Amino acid sequence: MSASSVAAGTTAELSAAQVSAPALASFRIVHETPADSSAREALLDRVMGEGRKRKSSEKLRRKRVPAYGLALVARDDHGAMIGSVRLWHISAGKKAGGEAVPALLLGPLAVEDAYAGRGVGSALMRQAIRNAQALGHKAILLVGDPEYYDRFGFIDRNMSGLAMPGPVERHRFLALELEENYLDGASGVLTATGKLTSEQSAIAV
Ligand SMILES: CC(C)(COP(=O)(O)OP(=O)(O)OC[C@H]1O[C@@H](n2cnc3c(N)ncnc32)[C@H](O)[C@@H]1OP(=O)(O)O)[C@@H](O)C(=O)NCCC(=O)NCCS
Repeated sequence: MSASSVAAGTTAELSAAQVSAPALASFRIVHETPADSSAREALLDRVMGEGRKRKSSEKLRRKRVPAYGLALVARDDHGAMIGSVRLWHISAGKKAGGEAVPALLLGPLAVEDAYAGRGVGSALMRQAIRNAQALGHKAILLVGDPEYYDRFGFIDRNMSGLAMPGPVERHRFLALELEENYLDGASGVLTATGKLTSEQSAIAV
């Protein structure tokens, strides 16, 4: 099975992908578990640096729980985490009539440097998009390099009326509409709408 043909699904073991490089015989995309959080934070620090916490996107993630079924990790054949992606509930501004526009914000997406270019990032992206679609989400927004994300269908269409809650390079502010024209007329600053982490612990008690 190729990395780009991972199976759809939202169960714990989502997919498996075989690649030919000897240092990475195989990897699989699975749901993140609570036990993964410190490995994920260490991976993000290594790959993205400390500056990651000063990004405008971080304002929409801080103290929030990722969207259900949309925190994924890539594991190598020994089970070590080599990639991570998470998606977050947001409101993508409002429509002219004042109604909020529920959507997802994707990020960060990160792959361990040693495994770059083996299809891990693409497998994470494709599985995340499939899960979002299966869960009924209508649009995914992100801030990232268009040269990478256009292969997954992310473009700047319908983004001119929208803004991040902080500085953003406009050409990197992209969306994938899972429902055609879903973001037509959406305008305003993105706001976080996910559960607060404190609410999650309250529920767990
Ligand atoms: C970007 C990232 C997730 C890609 O992961 P990956 O597993 O190497 O990606 P894949 O193997 O699926 O794809 C590799 C392809 O993407 C291209 N690519 C990787 N990063 C890119 C970028 N920033 N812009 C344009 N193309 C990029 C590679 O050149 C390669 O192209 P090819 O298929 O034509 O050879 C990874 O490099 C990473 O973690 N980077 C640091 C963090 C980051 O920048 N995250 C994304 C925010 S924009």
